[in-house]
Amino acid sequence: MSSSKISHISIIMDGNGRWAKKTGMPRAFGHREGIKSINKIVSACSVRQIEELTLFAFSSENWKRPNHEVKFLLSLFEESIQKYVDDLHNNNVKVNFIGDMSKFNNRLLKNINDAEKLTKDNTNLKLNFAINYGGKWDIINSFNKMLKSNHESIQEKNVKEKDIEEFLALNGSSPDLLIRTAGHYRLSNFMLWQHAYSEIYFTDCLWPDFDEQELDLAIKYYLKTTRKFGSLVDINPSVKEDA
Ligand code: FPP
Repeated sequence: MSSSKISHISIIMDGNGRWAKKTGMPRAFGHREGIKSINKIVSACSVRQIEELTLFAFSSENWKRPNHEVKFLLSLFEESIQKYVDDLHNNNVKVNFIGDMSKFNNRLLKNINDAEKLTKDNTNLKLNFAINYGGKWDIINSFNKMLKSNHESIQEKNVKEKDIEEFLALNGSSPDLLIRTAGHYRLSNFMLWQHAYSEIYFTDCLWPDFDEQELDLAIKYYLKTTRKFGSLVDINPSVKEDA
């Protein structure tokens, strides 16, 4: 399938817990299975020449989960980064983490920094993991960074859209297509600014069942949409001819 017109896909990977429950296993088993889906989708995006993939792995609200689940998730991040970073690097994937890193332990922070450092010059897929991330935090953080840097827009008391974007996570990049798995129809505080004009695809498929075929269904949906960004003109009519 041609999907060269999509540059950036974001995903709310939901349904690990329900997937585990369905199979009579503990929730942790669903999260482990979710890592396999990440691997499949990262490879599929590379093959489909998607430039950027942003995955919502841990929200600023996920700390409210039972302590043992939070602990498990954090150790799974640590273990998975270590386990897959070389593969990602060999596949020319650039890894990047967004979110408030101040709450993480030094081991996890080291893994994150090492992965970002090792893959920083890679030019294939850019893979962003949002961890301890919230869309409201991102916007507040952008303002605070702007204030601290004494940016000219602050001196002139005239903050513009591009100034906020300069300090947001992903530096102004915004997803063309947001996918949310597992049947809920909400944004859950995920990149509120960056998704202002994204197409949104909801599927009942649980994240551990999400594979290349499911990704192609989402891409097919996207290719049929008309993107007008508030105008009357489809900015990309040629896309539908490819679909
Ligand atoms: C949502 O399912 C999933 C999560 C909160 C965690 C997703 C994280 C991963 C798959 C690992 C990410 C890996 C790295 C390296 C950062 P849920 O538990 O909310 O499922 P439910 O809605 O069925 O309960």
